[in-house]
Amino acid sequence: MQQDFQGRRALITGGSAGLGLAAARMMASRGARVAIAARSADKLEAAAASLRRDTGAEILPVVCDVAQAQDLTRLVTTVDQAWGGVDILLNNAGGSSRQPALDITDEVWQRDLDLKLFSAIRLVRLVAPGMKVRRWGRILNVLNTLAKTPPGGSAPTSVTRAAGMAYTKVLSHELAPFNVLVNALCIGRIESEQWPRFHQADAPELSYDEYLAREGQKIPMGRLGKAEEFASLVCLLASDGGGYITGTAINIDGGASPAD
Ligand SMILES: NC(=O)c1ccc[n+]([C@@H]2O[C@H](COP(=O)([O-])OP(=O)(O)OC[C@H]3O[C@@H](n4cnc5c(N)ncnc54)[C@H](OP(=O)(O)O)[C@@H]3O)[C@@H](O)[C@H]2O)c1
Repeated sequence: MQQDFQGRRALITGGSAGLGLAAARMMASRGARVAIAARSADKLEAAAASLRRDTGAEILPVVCDVAQAQDLTRLVTTVDQAWGGVDILLNNAGGSSRQPALDITDEVWQRDLDLKLFSAIRLVRLVAPGMKVRRWGRILNVLNTLAKTPPGGSAPTSVTRAAGMAYTKVLSHELAPFNVLVNALCIGRIESEQWPRFHQADAPELSYDEYLAREGQKIPMGRLGKAEEFASLVCLLASDGGGYITGTAINIDGGASPAD
């Protein structure tokens, strides 16, 4: 078993399902202690139990709505009290939100910004000072390839994600002297718990497998990505092996995005 995360403390938002859970599993299996945060206590406890069973690692589930500033403070306080700090932060919680731009109300803009941008900004303010002192840290922001190529109808998500990309770059410059590395992962289409919902909304007349096959044909590689492929990239960027990579926004999209 690889032990490259021995002694590391990871905090993963949206860690109870989909991509976040896959990243938690891979990091825990390589020796990290992993705190996972999400809103549903039942799902979170079930995820923590399965991670402990499969990896034997220390797992800390914390109920938290990342769109609420006070929840984030409580989340980091809980992890600090248990483990004394966070070495790896994966800002992953989020979801899709798309409408014609002129229809988007202030409330919808604000909700998307709170969920996917301010959550990261606030968590970074809470955990990065400790990383700077220890001269080691990894901050990974999960975005969408729409951040680089926003088509009509893709707001507010694409706009929020583009801001997340700019934030990643700014932060990478400011934290590089402290060996705190900051990168973004721009996701295309990766199978997760979101996809059964997309299936029901888009094409309930197809079977789930037929739907995934149809969506896969829109991608140069001919298939959706796997959560484990996302987790592998997270682990590379979060490890000592990724020690000279910072300030990037890496596509993980099977070649679908026209922009690098
Ligand atoms: N999968 C894709 O194809 C794809 C494409 C582009 C971007 N992404 C991005 O990748 C990230 C992970 O997506 P996924 O596909 O893994 O989604 P998923 O399977 O639906 O899982 C989402 C996770 O986030 C948690 N979550 C959602 N809202 C939250 C909130 N307000 N506070 C705390 N936790 C919250 C969920 O738990 P609770 O519901 O219990 O809170 C769950 O653990 C998201 O940011 C998504 O936008 C994914």
